[in-house]
Amino acid sequence: MTGRARSTDGYAAEAATLAVRYESIRFEDVHADILHLVPAAPKRVIDIGAGTGRDAAALAGRGHRVLAVEPTAELRAAGERLHPEAGITWLDDGLPDLARVRAAPDRFDLAFLTAVWMHLDRAERQVAMRALDDLVVPGGRVFMTLRHGPVPPGRRMFQVTAGETVTLAAASGFAPVHESRRGDMLDRDAVTWTMLVLEKAEAA
Ligand SMILES: C[S@@+](CC[C@H](N)C(=O)[O-])C[C@H]1O[C@@H](n2cnc3c(N)ncnc32)[C@H](O)[C@@H]1O
Repeated sequence: MTGRARSTDGYAAEAATLAVRYESIRFEDVHADILHLVPAAPKRVIDIGAGTGRDAAALAGRGHRVLAVEPTAELRAAGERLHPEAGITWLDDGLPDLARVRAAPDRFDLAFLTAVWMHLDRAERQVAMRALDDLVVPGGRVFMTLRHGPVPPGRRMFQVTAGETVTLAAASGFAPVHESRRGDMLDRDAVTWTMLVLEKAEAA
């Protein structure tokens, strides 16, 4: 690898294998701890770093309107092929700025960032949290998972704690409504996950 490492490093080359892996687990199992915090009524959802769209498709299936944002072209193409559901729109954009999403007028009740946040370095996480603040409406929720443990070869990943994420989120008006820890659903050695749900304060 040459030049500065990027958050998407490793994903394009492995897209075919990863597509099978991501689609081998169910949204309802991945998010079992926080499902009760996903509203039943139809909402505007943004799935950031959507991968092959497993979560986006399940959320569309529950009646939500989903914008699936994925910067890795190979994963986005797989997602569009695997999940042609009417309720999903795919977009090429990325954290930390999400410039294309933010240039559009749409704002969101729910944001999902499943296994994405720890790809950003500290400075990027600060910019990204401000982007979430811009995109999520008052009273809206951010559903985030953080991976802990060894970094796979060829990837760029940081050890990000729940505590520092909650502190960063607080500066943008988000309060934690759920935090839990669980093992890895794909049985990778020494990998654990934080499940975090943040709620944005209602407008004063
Ligand atoms: C571990 S995969 C998770 C994919 C999907 N959310 C899932 O749970 O199956 C991480 C995803 O984050 C995407 N990603 C990496 N850097 C990103 C960035 N800066 N902005 C948005 N997505 C990013 C990758 O392309 C990849 O699809």
